[in-house]
Amino acid sequence: HAALTETEAEILLAQPRGFCAGVDRAIEIVERALARFGAPVYVRHEIVHNAYVVRDLRQKGAVFIESLEQVPAGSTVIFSAHGVAKEVHQQAQQLGLHIFDATCPLVTKVHVEVAKMWANGYEIVMIGHIGHPEVEGTMGQVPDRMHLVEKVSDVEQLQVADPQKLAYVTQTTLSVDDAAQVIGALKKRFPTILGPKKQDICYATQNRQDAVKLMAPQCDLVIVVGSPNSSNSNRLREVAQKLGISAYMVDEPAQIDPAWLVGKRRIGVTAGASAPEALAQSVIERLRELGVAKVRTLEGVDENVSFPLPRELSALVGKPK
Ligand code: F3S
Repeated sequence: HAALTETEAEILLAQPRGFCAGVDRAIEIVERALARFGAPVYVRHEIVHNAYVVRDLRQKGAVFIESLEQVPAGSTVIFSAHGVAKEVHQQAQQLGLHIFDATCPLVTKVHVEVAKMWANGYEIVMIGHIGHPEVEGTMGQVPDRMHLVEKVSDVEQLQVADPQKLAYVTQTTLSVDDAAQVIGALKKRFPTILGPKKQDICYATQNRQDAVKLMAPQCDLVIVVGSPNSSNSNRLREVAQKLGISAYMVDEPAQIDPAWLVGKRRIGVTAGASAPEALAQSVIERLRELGVAKVRTLEGVDENVSFPLPRELSALVGKPK
């Protein structure tokens, strides 16, 4: 650690960082369902892509499953913030499960767009990451006429029935810059393609990437707090890397390799939308132990977005905070 203490290294904290309104709401739904109905409460897929959050809720009695067949009849099931296909909703109803939908309202907005485009006869291109549950949920809103593209080269391969009747939507947590390139390629090849009224990339994704763009050039190392399967956390790391700054993603402070810090004076810290502030704080604590004395929070957008809870859970009183 000695090398660091002499360099007067400092931490720059990105603003905003960490929890978005959709993640906050999803976790609150699980906690309130547990308080109201008692354990076990079943959650389809990780409620949000964060190992710490999942571990904590599991200890409180949440049971995470991937398939509804694992849920006993009559139980309570919660759909994760990423959303689910129509089919999954129907299956849960057929099984007589008590459903709470923690799908982020900004993902539901995209679901509604897809359903409208489809009803108007459009073939729909989704820009997103193969295998991500949000993509599966959004593509699963309609029975057919949907294509998935991930990158510009996929656009060249696209085969569509009628280029005049084409629309696109995107995953909410994409890289703003990569998405703009793919949209540009789509518009070039299909000039009349219809897009969403307002971009599908959500405010939280946009703000966290903007904050890293401001912070990274002032740093010689960026640490992103987030889990490996978190789309938006990975994008934050990439944003810093594309600016030429070395960047690492860590799930917990123990993953910080002291060797990363050698000779570094300014260490940027941010957190993905699914990473709790407590984790960011423990990363800061660890950096202090490694000799970084000062912490400075950067200026940034103040977010005051919040989403209402499902009615059945919103009235609960005496909820432990
Ligand atoms: Fe929703 Fe965006 Fe968060 S889509 S869950 S507000 S990252």
